[in-house]
Formats: sequence, C-alpha cells, structure tokens
Amino acid sequence: MSEDTVLRVNKLKKEFGGLVAVKDVSFEIKSGEFVGLIGPNGCGKSTTFNCISGLLSQTSGEIEAFGTDISQMRPDQIQKLGFTRTFQHTRLWRQMTVIENLMVPPRNPYSPNVLKSLFMPKTRPNEKMRLSNAYDALDQLEVPHMAHNLASELSGGQSKLVDIGRSLMGDPQLLLLDEPVAGVAGPLAMKIFNNLRRIVDETGISVLIIEHNMDFILRQGVDRIIVMNEGEILMIGTPDEVKKNREVIEAYLGE
Ligand SMILES: Nc1ncnc2c1ncn2[C@@H]1O[C@H](COP(=O)(O)OP(=O)(O)O)[C@@H](O)[C@H]1O
Ligand SMILES: [Mg+2]
Repeated sequence: MSEDTVLRVNKLKKEFGGLVAVKDVSFEIKSGEFVGLIGPNGCGKSTTFNCISGLLSQTSGEIEAFGTDISQMRPDQIQKLGFTRTFQHTRLWRQMTVIENLMVPPRNPYSPNVLKSLFMPKTRPNEKMRLSNAYDALDQLEVPHMAHNLASELSGGQSKLVDIGRSLMGDPQLLLLDEPVAGVAGPLAMKIFNNLRRIVDETGISVLIIEHNMDFILRQGVDRIIVMNEGEILMIGTPDEVKKNREVIEAYLGE
C-alpha cells in the first residue's frame, strides 16, 4: 500500500444467510482519485459501500482507511476519519430548506444521535462554521440559488444535489456516492459529474461513485472504473481500458 492510499479493500466477502452478495472484492482508492463503481443490479455495489461505511460488518476480508483497519469501527467513527456517503434512496427533511438540510449532520440510520442533533441548541460554537460550509457546498455544486428553497419543492435531481452537498460538509477525504444520478435528467447528471471532477481536482479529495449506466460513466471523465458482476470484480481500468475489455463488452453491451 502506498502512502497516498485512502481506502484499501482486500478480499472483502459479505454473506446474507446463504446468499454471497460480495465474494472476493479487492481494490484501492488513492487521494485525488475519481473512481466509478459499476455493475448490474444486485451485483453487490451497495453492499460493498455498506461494509466500507460500517453499516454492515463483513463476513471476511480487510478494509483500511489511511492504513488503519476500520472493519470493526462504527459508522460514526469511520465518518470521523473522513469517509462520508450518500444512500441510493435520498431522503431530505422535506419541510426544511436546503441550507437547513445541509446543517443537519449526515443521516445515519444506526446512529442514536440523529434526533439529538436535530434539537441541539442554536448557539453551538461551530454553528457559524457549519453555515459557511453549507453555503460553500452549494457554491461548489453551482446551486447557491437553491439555499432557501424548501426540500419538498425540489426535483429528484436537485434533491440528489443537496444530498451530495450534505456529504461535502465536515471536511471529507473520501465521498462514497451511491447512484447519485440515477433518475436524474441527462444535463443535470452531467453537471453533477463535472462538478465532482472539479471538486476532486481542486481539493484533492477522493470520490468513489456507484453508477449503473456503463455508457454514461465511460463519458464522465473518471480516472478509473471498477466493474463488478455477481459479487466479484470483473476488471479495474481506465475508461479506455474498460471499453476495450471483451469480457466487459460482452457483459454490458451484449456483443
Ligand atoms: N441487508 C440485506 N439482507 C439480505 N440480502 C441483501 C441485503 N442487502 C443486499 N442484499 C442482497 O445482496 C445482493 C447485492 O445487493 P446490493 O449490494 O444492494 O446490489 P447493488 O447495489 O449492486 O444493486 C442482492 O442479491 C441483494 O438482494
Ligand atoms: Mg445498490
């Protein structure tokens, strides 16, 4: 493992009862890398994310953040190391504005602190910093005008953007984004990818992004693509390498 390795997954396996959802998954993400994770429905992409972010404990294998074993850590501890994630199904606080949604610490279904954090007194010392981070996140995603819109008024794509904004709060080192553009109209989906690319290049953080559309991800300027199929890695390569790989072509393009 080299010094700039942010995430290392080695021989990850996750079983649900008799079902082996993830079989033998190994890959590394380096700092400043923008990596796509793709594969058909049910091939184990979200399960891989759930293991990395600590929502599920793996059956076997190793997961390291910056060289530290995180496989026994709780989600909040992993988050403190700088790993933040979004979920496949975005849920915002509908009666709150966009900026208020960004101010709520990331939703974590296993954390007992979600409710507590909602009712924190307004005079928290880091409140001003968080507010300024929230506006920065909207600036980075080029949607500062959405700050005071109610979440319930947003389109599906705009909600996904706010969710990504939420993952940018609190100084992340690695964003794990689970299908952030699924169901998002083409132009907005491309804008989201362009902004993520720029954020990676400007800040040096890393992004691992799940996307199910192969044709789409091949054109979005990611550095590498991890292709999964039936719980295993089919290949890892640059978009050009993936395009040329016969196995992948057969699995996805049906040739
Ligand atoms: N919590 C769970 N309990 C049981 N089976 C699960 C659970 N999560 C995922 N699975 C199963 O594991 C396999 C991989 O699912 P998932 O990782 O969600 O795939 P993907 O995100 O690639 O579509 C699927 O067969 C799915 O039904
Ligand atoms: Mg999934």
